[in-house]
Amino acid sequence: MENKYKIAVIAGDGIGPEVLEEGIKVLKKVAELDGSFEFEFTHFPWGCEYYAKHGKMMDEDGLEQLKAFDAIYLGAVGYPGVPDHISLWDLLLKIRKGFDQYVNLRPIKLLKGAPCPLKDVTREQVDMLVIRENSEGEYAGAGDWLFKGQPHEVVLQTGVFSRVGVERIIRYAFEEARKQAKSLTSISKGNALNYSMVFWDQVFEEVAKEYPDVQTYSYLVDAAAMFFVKQPWRFEIVVTSNLFGDIITDLGAAIAGGLGLAAGANINPTREYPSMFEPIHGSAPDIAGQNIANPLAAIWSASQILDFFGHENWGIEVLNSIEQIMVEGKVLTPDMGGRSTTKEVGEAVARNIRSYQIEKING
Ligand code: NAI
Ligand code: MG
Repeated sequence: MENKYKIAVIAGDGIGPEVLEEGIKVLKKVAELDGSFEFEFTHFPWGCEYYAKHGKMMDEDGLEQLKAFDAIYLGAVGYPGVPDHISLWDLLLKIRKGFDQYVNLRPIKLLKGAPCPLKDVTREQVDMLVIRENSEGEYAGAGDWLFKGQPHEVVLQTGVFSRVGVERIIRYAFEEARKQAKSLTSISKGNALNYSMVFWDQVFEEVAKEYPDVQTYSYLVDAAAMFFVKQPWRFEIVVTSNLFGDIITDLGAAIAGGLGLAAGANINPTREYPSMFEPIHGSAPDIAGQNIANPLAAIWSASQILDFFGHENWGIEVLNSIEQIMVEGKVLTPDMGGRSTTKEVGEAVARNIRSYQIEKING
């Protein structure tokens, strides 16, 4: 087939393999219904179990191997026994940085039927896209640990904000806001971080001049955290730094249905390298192997894969199907108050996709 998308699957640890299996099921179903494209999945055994056996999180030439793929579908990495900074830096961050995936896209959208802990908030009022800087900033890994272990030891963790890095993420966000005809909010902290965030705010203002059609707002991160909870409708497209984005998207996940629903995409916009799609939850060792993990976040990230390949209509169909099972409330995992298994939920989502298509054809 002409349109064959080659996907590298790094299922990883804990519930990673369990939830990805369901996402793959859904992608296969979509390809089958569409008929004009197909997926080829190649599995890589990397992660903490691999580390326990081989002393490394991935093969030495791992990035080289991954280069040949159109996208990477990642479950979760991390397991008790392997320090989290090793599993994170030697796999996830290696891929994000090595493939210049400088955009992290996290939709925070309250789907129909999704649980929301906020009072007096309607579904339409929680609908934003957070665009997080994903390559430098506070997570650049720059710093030093001097006089380690001595009474006068000193630790430095340096934020790195380059003009190229700040400008490209802000520009990406403006383009997205323009495309969607939505407002753009920058979240920073120029009062306390008197170099990095003053610079961020300056670049935001500079780039804004090129987009007079885009309504802009700028908030300090602490105030933004409050508004996420109190008035989430203030936010449509949001752009922010690596650290702030990490934190506020977990807050966002909490107001939009919980970790079981939150997905994130790591995008290399130039498409020189593969982009990577993942549920944002971790490996959940406490429930691993029990077939009760919620696969909806992994399935949502599968819908982001469809968007990325230009099949946005199918991406929406997948979200519709997730909504349908949440509204019906019959087939849900325990974290959403149900009694179904991971597999049953995945199968229900895949099945619904067909019924939507049939409705379309008939009506
Ligand atoms: P976690 O997200 O794995 O779990 C937090 C809580 O949420 C647990 O009670 C878990 O059972 C529950 N949970 C998470 N995903 C769920 C799902 N799909 N369905 C039902 N319940 C779910 O975060 P935690 O416990 O802080 O980290 C566990 C390990 O995962 C650590 O090693 C950590 O480093 C790693 N991790 C990896 C990430 C990644 O690969 N992107 C992201 C976050 C953590
Ligand atoms: Mg996080």
